[in-house]
Amino acid sequence: MKTRKTDAPPLSGLSDYAREARQGALAPFSKFKVGAALLTVDGEIITGCNVESATYGLTMCAERIAVFKAVSEGFTKFAAVAVVADSPVITPPCGACRQVLWELCGDIWVHIANLKGRKKTMRLSKLLPEPFDKRFL
Ligand code: THU
Repeated sequence: MKTRKTDAPPLSGLSDYAREARQGALAPFSKFKVGAALLTVDGEIITGCNVESATYGLTMCAERIAVFKAVSEGFTKFAAVAVVADSPVITPPCGACRQVLWELCGDIWVHIANLKGRKKTMRLSKLLPEPFDKRFL
């Protein structure tokens, strides 16, 4: 079956990777573990989890760890990101992650889910309308 360009790629598998990555989270302060999985246009998957600092402010979110890992490994074109956390209301990426995802991944699909199977999929542009990026520099 042909996939239309506007269709979200099959994302249930991607959230399984995010769920798995979440196990590696280092979140002794918030106890809030998050996992992320980035899908490249070639089908590669790069994962990340949140890593907290005792300074709190130096904590790094799962999404940014995934995207920085991916870019540092040479990946440049992305199709989707899945984010999984254990909250009754499913957790969307924070503002800083939205900005970094926009700049490094473009208008990818964002798939958010919790451990109970609640899920939602949207384009990043819906989460970050009218973004600032290199076009304005
Ligand atoms: N966190 C993420 O990993 N991703 C988000 O998009 C929201 C917040 C992490 C950061 C911190 O370790 C914990 O969740 C609580 O804010």
